[in-house]
Amino acid sequence: SDDAPETPSTSTSSHSSHPLRYPPTNSAQVIKPVPFQQPTALLTFSYTPQRVLEFTNSALRYYIDPPPGADLRYGYERWIKRPEERTRLDGLLRAIKRVMQKADASAGPGSGSKWLQDIAVVTWRGIMTKILTAPYEERDRCELNVMYVNGTLYIEEHLSDARLLEKEDLAPKQRVQSYYGYSFESWCTSSRPGVPERMEGHPVGWGGDVDTNVQWCSVIKTKLGDDRLIIGGEVDCVRERFDGRTDTFVELKTSMSIRNAGDEARFEKKLLKFYMQSFLLGVPEIVVGFRTPAGRLTTTQTFKTVQIPRLVRGKPGAWDPQVCFSWGHHFLTTLKSIVSAPPQTSSNSEDDAGERVEPSARVWRVVFEPREGVKVSLLDE
Ligand code: A3P
Ligand code: MG
Ligand code: MG
Repeated sequence: SDDAPETPSTSTSSHSSHPLRYPPTNSAQVIKPVPFQQPTALLTFSYTPQRVLEFTNSALRYYIDPPPGADLRYGYERWIKRPEERTRLDGLLRAIKRVMQKADASAGPGSGSKWLQDIAVVTWRGIMTKILTAPYEERDRCELNVMYVNGTLYIEEHLSDARLLEKEDLAPKQRVQSYYGYSFESWCTSSRPGVPERMEGHPVGWGGDVDTNVQWCSVIKTKLGDDRLIIGGEVDCVRERFDGRTDTFVELKTSMSIRNAGDEARFEKKLLKFYMQSFLLGVPEIVVGFRTPAGRLTTTQTFKTVQIPRLVRGKPGAWDPQVCFSWGHHFLTTLKSIVSAPPQTSSNSEDDAGERVEPSARVWRVVFEPREGVKVSLLDE
């Protein structure tokens, strides 16, 4: 009828096109800055070689300069590779539960739940990076599952069966290249601060054979605009010591050596992901190992995370973190308004899951189309 409220452009039907378009990334545009608060560490945890989560720092490693010219292919045959899987939120939820129990113990029963009520978003760092850098993403499509429970958005990545197979069946060349990144982590870390590892039967400085089951993770809280976020992610190592804060965290990265202006522009573009990934967890320092195509380490360069945006400003591969934060804020606000809307009751569709499913049990699919924008739909499963 004419009196019926207008269907919002952010339709909840699974046929919605792009209700959310990315902002232009040319910085002639004036954007309203959205502040991102300095992250505070809540707790850390480790995954053991058996992929068991434990609330210890057993997987913590200390930064050490890698040997000059290190061979990043070293140990490839012995790589214990964690199978590709859908990363659910379980680990992060267990960590949050622990934070809540601590709050209950120190500030009285119910303090934990009260704390959680104020949290707008719970997700992994990798997902937050994808959300924020979406306006600049030119290639990779990304799909998320979202639930909205007691005022909090829970966001995990959705990998289709096809995408999962694709990730598991990497071409040998890609697999080796992926290994270079992990091997760099081994060359750059030690079990003791300041002392290179000396392992029987291995070159000095080799930190141990790569087992990608093992990870050291940090959970932080921060704020984007007025939204409180809880973000968890892997931290590669610390410098000298770990005292519960993020200020000694170090991110390790590898990249092809830069030989010409084209390489440089490509590297500057890549710096957006390095920057955002590190910034979100409060990691102040990124050590980049430059390598040859064959995996020989040429040089390393240390970047202060907060200085990276200034480094790329006005360059061919330039980007502006403020575009990302402003977009991220807009995205989260819009997403929240969509998923918090009461289920449609006047639907004439028999399959409308919204009619039958408890609002807090609804699962939403969010699809990020490169260069276009974001689609949100309600899942019927
Ligand atoms: P590089 O980033 O140095 O290439 P992270 O840097 O996030 O700690 O990840 C460690 C390594 O995991 C990466 O090192 C890369 O080798 C591998 N890796 C991470 N994400 C990947 C992806 N999407 N596809 C393939 N390899 C990936
Ligand atoms: Mg890592
Ligand atoms: Mg790394």
